Amino acid sequence: MANLLAIKPMSKLLNEAKNEGEASLKRSLGPLNLITLGIGAIIGAGIFVLTGQAAAKHAGPAVMVSFIFAGITCAFAGLCYAEFASLIPIAGSAYTYGYATLGEFVAWIIGWDLVLEYAFGAATVASGWSGYFVGLLQDFHIHIPPQLTTTPGTVLYQYHDRWMQLAALPTGVDPSSLPHAAGIFNLVAFLAIAVVTAVLVRGIEESANLNTVIVLVKLAVVGIFLFLGIGYILHNPAHAHANWTPFIPPSDGHGNFGFGGITAGAASIFFAYIGFDAVSTAAQEAKNPQRDMPIGILGSLVICTVLYILVSGVLTGLVNYRALNVADPVAVGIDVTGVRWGSILVKIGAVFGLGTVMLVMLLGQSRVFFSMSRDGLLWKWAGAIHPKFRTPWISNIVVGAIVAFMPAVLPIDRLSELVNMGTLLAFAIVCAGVWILRRRSPELPRPFKTPLVPLVPILGIVSALYLVWTLPTLTKEVVIGWLILGLLIYFTYSVKHSKVQAMERGEDLG
Ligand code: ALA
Repeated sequence: MANLLAIKPMSKLLNEAKNEGEASLKRSLGPLNLITLGIGAIIGAGIFVLTGQAAAKHAGPAVMVSFIFAGITCAFAGLCYAEFASLIPIAGSAYTYGYATLGEFVAWIIGWDLVLEYAFGAATVASGWSGYFVGLLQDFHIHIPPQLTTTPGTVLYQYHDRWMQLAALPTGVDPSSLPHAAGIFNLVAFLAIAVVTAVLVRGIEESANLNTVIVLVKLAVVGIFLFLGIGYILHNPAHAHANWTPFIPPSDGHGNFGFGGITAGAASIFFAYIGFDAVSTAAQEAKNPQRDMPIGILGSLVICTVLYILVSGVLTGLVNYRALNVADPVAVGIDVTGVRWGSILVKIGAVFGLGTVMLVMLLGQSRVFFSMSRDGLLWKWAGAIHPKFRTPWISNIVVGAIVAFMPAVLPIDRLSELVNMGTLLAFAIVCAGVWILRRRSPELPRPFKTPLVPLVPILGIVSALYLVWTLPTLTKEVVIGWLILGLLIYFTYSVKHSKVQAMERGEDLG
């Protein structure tokens, strides 16, 4: 009889954390690498695309407050992640924390659920990336056949030498008078995932160094936007004042604008914060994880929260919120300043910036599979390490191959909702885990302690579940279907091969 509540002993976890050698991951990341890894995962489609939509559809200029609300929810979870990551510096992230506290069955569910966050997250960003990349190429008059730039069935119209969706056409243009084409396969997004996968197979050190360079480019673009935007606002205070007034537009009676609109905005821009937790998946590659994991997780979260609040405030000061429902709101904002090269610069920054998000998401995904495989809960190939590169290469390639197809054929909005749901569930379980482990094993050495336990974990659970509640019913149904598939694998494969269960029976599965 399987013991679904089997807990992976802390002694075993800490031993694994100390393991070095050929079959282990390479410890090459310092605190700066970890912070940039986090920023690389966080700043992406959320700030470059969703900020404008959240302002236009939900919150108006008060989208700044939405960012504060969503940031607070993430701070509760971030503090809990930091305690776990310094206590159990193992690659598996929330999956491993669940295994140490809530038992194997819950751990499996989190591991399976994290696939939604990381794999679907990378797929979502690849979808947004292809839009920016194709737009940038069009700026230079390079055209890819439109059928290979979007998902099946999506119709693109040719207007003034550019291919665009119906919503992006200027008002008054009759679409039936324009040449048009339906998407077949988003080859651009597919190839983006293929290239990122190749970088990850080559090695974590190279990936992290490349990531650091690109994160600096991304931060520079955000910095230039803020510099030009604040400069413009200081010279034209009346323009900004008019755009910021009223700061909270009156409610439309359907949950948009007013106070309800601020929380709806927070739920929709939650995606922008996802990624700080991915730092914890690199724990086995950190040189000094006990000290540096909390620095990486909380440092990247704090930096991004400050940037998001500033960017959303400046953006809504530059452009009236009603005009921000576009695919490239930050580029539209910089256009207002009159700096002609600004918009192309923002697109270049987004192309590189979204690239690093895909990188860290896929890195996290393969590391979760690696940990699950090492525990016997997934097939052995998922934990195989490349003899030369010392990366979980088979896991990288299999995950990359599947993820590459998702943005090629599935729409971005469905993908992103699944990501939000998967992430919020993982947040809630991690918060619960911190609280439980404090009660069960108060004596364990905790290099970083979450403050105000159990208040912070409780607030983390409540705020994450509140946001889950606001997600569409269809998303919840798909996630339930996904979990049922996971249970089939668990009961047909994992229970028979679980090393922790074998240990409890006195066997050794190696
Ligand atoms: N936070 C990441 C983004 O905004 C997922 O793209």
